[in-house]
Parts: sequence; C-alpha cells; structure tokens
Amino acid sequence: MDLFVFPRWANKTVHLAGAVLGVAPLYLIGFVWYGASPKTVSVGYAPEQPVPYSHALHAGELGIDCRYCHNTVEQAGVAAIPPTETCMNCHARVRTTSPKLEPVRSSWQTNQPVEWLKVHDLPDYVYFNHSAHVTRGIGCVSCHGRVDQMDVVYQHEELSMGWCLDCHRAPEQHLRPPAEATNMAWEPPEEQAKYGAQLREQNHINPPTDCSTCHR
Ligand code: HEC
Ligand code: HEC
Ligand code: HEC
Ligand code: HEC
Ligand code: HEC
Repeated sequence: MDLFVFPRWANKTVHLAGAVLGVAPLYLIGFVWYGASPKTVSVGYAPEQPVPYSHALHAGELGIDCRYCHNTVEQAGVAAIPPTETCMNCHARVRTTSPKLEPVRSSWQTNQPVEWLKVHDLPDYVYFNHSAHVTRGIGCVSCHGRVDQMDVVYQHEELSMGWCLDCHRAPEQHLRPPAEATNMAWEPPEEQAKYGAQLREQNHINPPTDCSTCHR
C-alpha cells in the first residue's frame, strides 16, 4: 500500500507548510508595503488646535516641566493630555481676558474638555508604551524633537517600523540617565555611543525586536 511508503516526517512537513502559509502573507504584506510606502508621510504633521497653545512659551520660556502636564508618562503607556484644570491653575489669574484663552474658559464653565487634536497616531495594531521608554532612559527629545522650541507641536520622526527597530537594535545611540528624560537640552558627558553603551550595560537595557513586542 502506498500509504506506508509516505515517510513519517511528512506529517511534520504538512504542519510546517501550514505555518508558513499562515504567516507568509503577514510577512509579505509587511515587507512589500514597508519597502514601497513613502516613509515621510506624516513627518511635519501639525493640525490646527482649538487653542493656540505654545510649548515654546510654556515648556521653553516659562520652563514648565513636561510632567506637570503630561503627568502619566512615567507610569503609563499613554502620555496624558492635561485637563482644563491644569491650565486654569494659572489662567484663572493670568491673561484672564485673552481671546486666545476663550475656549479654555468656556471649557472650564461648561465642564466639556477642550477638543485637542491628536498629532502622533500609530495604527491600532501597534502597541507602544511611554513608561517602558522614559523610565529606561530614552528622553522625549529622541522621539519628539525640541518640543520646547515649537510654537505648534509637529510630528518630528517617521514613527515607522524601521524607525522603532533602528533604536531597538542600537539604543546606546540614545540612552541617558532616566532622571534627564524631560531635559530637552541634555548633552552626554562624552561621546554618546560610548556613554550610552555604559548605561546600557549598567542598567541591562535590551529592547526586544520580536514581532510580539509591538504587535500583540
Ligand atoms: C519595535 C516595534 C516593532 C517590532 C518589533 C515590529 N514591528 Fe511591525 N510595525 C511597527 C510599527 C510602528 C508599524 C507601523 C508603521 C507605519 O505606520 O508606518 C508596524 C507595521 C507593521 C506591518 C504593517 C505594514 C507596514 O509596514 O506598514 C506589518 C505587516 C508588520 N509591522 C509586521 C511585523 C513583523 C512580521 C514583525 C517581526 C519580524 C514586526 N512587525 C516587528 C513596529 C514594530
Ligand atoms: C502647560 C502644559 C504643558 C506642558 C508643560 C507641556 N505640554 Fe505637551 N501638550 C500640552 C497640550 C495642551 C497638548 C495638546 C495640544 C497640542 O498638541 O499642542 C500637548 C501636546 C503635546 C504633544 C503632542 C501630542 C499628540 O497629540 O500627539 C507632545 C509630543 C508633547 N505635548 C510633548 C511635550 C514635551 C516633550 C514637553 C516638555 C518639554 C511638554 N509637552 C510640555 C500641554 C503641555
Ligand atoms: C504655570 C502657569 C501656566 C500654566 C499651567 C499654563 N499657562 Fe498658559 N500662560 C502662562 C503665562 C505666564 C502666559 C503669558 C506669558 C506672557 O506674558 O505673554 C501664558 C500664555 C498663554 C497663552 C497666550 C495668551 C495670549 O493672550 O497671548 C495661551 C493661549 C495659553 N497660555 C494657553 C494655556 C493652556 C491651553 C494651558 C493648559 C494646557 C496653559 N496655558 C497652562 C502660564 C501658564
Ligand atoms: C520612544 C519614543 C518616544 C518617547 C521617548 C516619548 N514618546 Fe511620546 N509618543 C511616541 C509615540 C510613538 C506616540 C504615539 C503613540 C500612539 O499613537 O499610540 C507618542 C505620543 C505622545 C503624546 C500623545 C498621547 C499619547 O500617548 O498617544 C504625548 C502627549 C507625548 N507622546 C508626550 C511625550 C513626553 C512628554 C515624553 C517624554 C517624557 C515622550 N512623549 C516620550 C513616542 C515617544
Ligand atoms: C530612541 C530609541 C527607541 C525608539 C525610537 C523606540 N524604542 Fe521601544 N524601547 C527602547 C528601549 C531602550 C526600551 C527598553 C528596553 C529595556 O527595558 O531593556 C524599549 C522598550 C519598548 C517596549 C517594551 C518592551 C518590553 O516588553 O519591555 C515596547 C513595547 C516598545 N519599546 C515599542 C516601541 C515602538 C512601537 C516604537 C516605535 C513606534 C519604539 N519602541 C521606538 C528604545 C526605543
């Protein structure tokens, strides 16, 4: 009977073929698309916000720390956008009649949040986490640029898969002491790659590159 001629390992081959067929489309779509898509499509994106809020003024000139407003960056995946209350801590007394602040005052009175538009927006199938980066020594500036000099925040980096992976493969190019995460003007005491390599070893930094890190 022919059936018995079929070697035992054929069973395994069938499973393997199934696995390859199941996974290959993801890889194919991924890498064809990845290679062909224009990568700079959203760099510079800066939607017009309901209030002309300036980071250059508040975080730059006034020197307010990022965490005063984005107070979840060290604990959570998402960096919170501040509620109206945070603005009113000052603007209940400062510039109380400014027309630019009218939407903030009306939000305060009506209890309806200001409708800030999202600037950075990864596709839903990508998992990202702020605290995993900020507490391990990646500064805001590495991913968002000099926000303290921006009147209007814009997307500074590609946020493509290749961009994430470039750093996951060589984080020493960006590592700093975690306490300096929000210091936009921080400079390494010696050559970045060398200094970063020391921090990497000391703090056992090893960013994963397997698919399930970012696609789960
Ligand atoms: C460090 C994070 C990270 C890892 C690891 C990662 N990806 Fe991605 N991946 C992304 C991001 C971010 C995007 C969205 C890119 C965009 O919007 O341009 C993406 C997009 C994709 C897409 C959609 C097509 C595209 O490129 O826009 C596919 C498919 C994909 N990844 C497959 C994979 C596979 C397979 C692996 C493992 C070999 C993997 N990814 C590992 C971050 C990651
Ligand atoms: C006084 C409060 C305040 C401070 C301080 C502040 N921000 Fe913001 N930030 C906001 C508000 C409000 C928005 C939403 C409006 C906008 O995008 O301009 C925002 C938006 C952002 C965005 C864009 C978010 C998105 O939609 O993708 C980034 C990135 C950002 N801030 C980074 C920083 C960094 C880095 C610092 C410190 C250097 C900082 N912020 C300091 C209030 C603040
Ligand atoms: C720590 C205090 C403080 C906080 C918190 C704060 N601001 Fe301000 N803001 C100021 C000061 C001070 C000025 C005025 C600077 C000057 O003299 O021109 C100002 C100016 C402004 C202006 C320009 C007003 C004009 O007429 O030119 C806008 C708009 C503004 N802030 C929006 C916001 C928003 C929105 C928030 C909350 C996300 C916020 N501010 C939080 C202190 C603050
Ligand atoms: C490793 C890169 C990286 C670092 C470091 C980083 N961010 Fe982000 N940030 C992102 C990405 C990517 C998004 C878009 C996330 C999404 O769409 O899911 C984002 C989004 C944001 C948002 C919008 C809300 C949200 O979570 O989607 C704010 C506000 C923000 N970042 C502020 C900060 C501040 C402040 C710091 C420093 C304390 C910081 N980020 C550090 C990459 C980074
Ligand atoms: C500038 C460097 C840098 C960039 C850019 C960057 N990462 Fe990371 N990522 C790191 C470092 C460093 C860690 C922490 C590794 C550790 O704790 O050993 C990390 C950790 C992570 C983790 C947590 C992994 C875990 O399970 O502990 C996720 C998820 C992640 N990154 C996703 C992303 C995605 C998605 C992007 C792109 C949108 C991105 N990263 C871009 C440096 C970076």
